Amino acid sequence: MSLHIESMRVDLGGNTVLRNVSISLPGGETVAVVGRNGAGKTTLLRSIMGLVKPASGLMLLDGRDLCAEPAHLRAAAGFGYAPEDRVIFPALSVAQNIALPCEVQRVPRREIEQRVEAVLAAMPQLKPMLPRSGAALSGGQGKMVALARALMVGTRFVLLDEPFQGLAPVLARQYGDSLRALRQSHPQLCVVITESNASLLDGVQSLTLFIERGYVATDQQAWPKGHAQSGESE
Ligand SMILES: Nc1ncnc2c1ncn2[C@@H]1O[C@H](COP(=O)(O)OP(=O)(O)OP(=O)(O)O)[C@@H](O)[C@H]1O
Ligand SMILES: [Mg+2]
Repeated sequence: MSLHIESMRVDLGGNTVLRNVSISLPGGETVAVVGRNGAGKTTLLRSIMGLVKPASGLMLLDGRDLCAEPAHLRAAAGFGYAPEDRVIFPALSVAQNIALPCEVQRVPRREIEQRVEAVLAAMPQLKPMLPRSGAALSGGQGKMVALARALMVGTRFVLLDEPFQGLAPVLARQYGDSLRALRQSHPQLCVVITESNASLLDGVQSLTLFIERGYVATDQQAWPKGHAQSGESE
């Protein structure tokens, strides 16, 4: 099971931001998307989530072209997304914050409980936080909660936008450990992680894609002439 993106172009504000993107995102892999600021990482994730509409191309999953489907169907299709600016609701507890997207989708209570169990298996450090107020989280803890929330609906794909940025070393290690533990608790899941600084990933990925000025390739040498750059991040 893979998501196949074929010849996708995305324009924003009159500029082409993603160019001829043809990639596969396979289940069971942790895929890093590495590129400088402004390369198009967030736009790639937003396109996959249906929040940006590609100008051309295909996004095939199980024979369906997701480009033609509205964003609100992505959660039901098993896509979870943790944007860079994680949004934690301060009036809700951590447990409520995590369950919210499933409740919006009317996932049965028993199923929600099972998913929480699976998430806690990968993120045991979250357990003591569950009854706490969403307002009482540090920035790093908020990132953990945002990962858990993305995992609750992201039964097939979880897209994480620069999750390691700004995490203190201890939390970054915990975050990386959780991503590694997901390979046991959610073996079929495809996890996509963007990062501008590849060293922050600490080798958590099983595949690496490079993105530069809207071109995505598995090998930096594969960019069109004039786009290949030495070094992979700032
Ligand atoms: N709404 C928009 N309208 C016009 N241009 C945009 C818009 N959003 C992003 N861009 C441009 O698209 C390019 C890619 O932006 P994007 O946010 O995807 O990059 P990024 O790789 O996520 O960068 P960063 O590492 O800073 O988060 C940038 O040149 C940016 O200026
Ligand atoms: Mg970004």
